[in-house]
Formats: sequence, structure tokens, C-alpha cells
Amino acid sequence: MTDTLSLLKLRRSVPPQFLSAPGPEGAQLDELLAIAARVPDHGKLVPWRFIVFSGSGREKAAEVVARVFRARNPEASEEQVAVERQRLLHAPVVVAVVSRAREHVKIPIWEQELSAGAVCMAMLVAAHAMGYAGSWLTGWFAFDREVLTEFGLGEDERIAGVVHIGTPTAPITDRTRPVMSEIVSHYGE
Ligand SMILES: Cc1cc2nc3c(=O)[nH]c(=O)nc-3n(C[C@H](O)[C@H](O)[C@H](O)COP(=O)(O)O)c2cc1C
Repeated sequence: MTDTLSLLKLRRSVPPQFLSAPGPEGAQLDELLAIAARVPDHGKLVPWRFIVFSGSGREKAAEVVARVFRARNPEASEEQVAVERQRLLHAPVVVAVVSRAREHVKIPIWEQELSAGAVCMAMLVAAHAMGYAGSWLTGWFAFDREVLTEFGLGEDERIAGVVHIGTPTAPITDRTRPVMSEIVSHYGE
């Protein structure tokens, strides 16, 4: 089996709580994003972009999430607020894949959004191939307009995925995978 097939067969998500430094940075992070940008893209519209959260930017973003959570949940305890703040602070590198799908004469929005999903997956696979691990998550804040505006998203932009990348700190057991006979059919047989 080729290395690529082994990687695809064995890859699984590692939750952010089990990701720590080091993560990709500098030229390696640039390479990771360039690989993620090589996905099928009908019409070559580039209907997605990246926002990287690392270093002090990651801390700032975590504060935004905590502040908006507190405003939305005035009865929340300090512990609950701390959990929300921590969401972006586990993995050393967090990348938001922003979908900027727009009405187009030929290319449906659905196809543009699918392309953004492909970006997330390509990024995860490439991160694993570089020796890191990761998770593709969203969570409430990825749908909260105030948070999105603070992160610099326009009104017509959405988050397709928040990809957390780092070095796994613990072995993660695999989850149940689909029963292939339940999801594969052969047309005409
Ligand atoms: C668009 C999208 C958003 C997701 N958001 C979350 C999330 O917010 N929280 C969560 O626990 N899993 C979320 N997941 C699921 C995880 O990424 C992942 O599928 C799961 O942990 C198992 O991963 P694996 O099949 O790669 O091992 C999301 C998946 C997708 C495709």
C-alpha cells in the first residue's frame, strides 16, 4: 500500500484538547495552506479564504469568544466562560476556512460550499502527512454573527470549518466507521 493510502486509511481526528505544540509555522504553514488551496473549484472562483489564529492573534480571538459567550449567557459561571475561552487555545495553530460563496451565473452556491469543505479535508490530510494531527470543528461561535464580524468576516461570508492543528499528546482510538454495504449500491444490479 502506498503511504498516501495508509495515511487515508489510518487518519482520524484528534480533538483539540489532545493537541499541543509544536504545530506548523512559517514556511511549513504556508505550504500547508497552499496544499489546502489545491482543491477542485468549479469555475476557479476561489470561493474560500483562510484566517490563521496563532500566537497573540489566537489569544485575542479566544477573548472574543469568551466575551460574546458571556454577553449571550449572563448567568454563565466563570468556569463555563473559561471553557469557551479555551476552545481556541488548545491547539497551537487554528485555521478558519471561510466560505465566500456568491451567486454566480453558472456555478451553484452548493458547489462553491462543497469546495470549501474539500479545503478543510485537504488541510487535515496534509497536516497529518506532515506529522501533525487535527480536527475539523465548528461550534456555536462559528455561527455567531458578532464573533464572525470580530474575526473579519463579511456579511456574506461563513465559516466552513475551524481546523485545529498540533501534535497529538495521546493516542486516540478510532471511532466506528460506516458499514459500507449500507451506503454503497451499484446502479443497475
Ligand atoms: C463541518 C463540520 C463541523 C464539525 N463540527 C464539529 C464540532 O463542532 N464539534 C465536534 O465535536 N465535532 C465536529 N465535527 C466532527 C469532527 O470533525 C469529526 O468528524 C469527528 O470528531 C470524527 O473525526 P474523524 O472521522 O476524522 O476521526 C464536525 C465535522 C464537520 C464536517
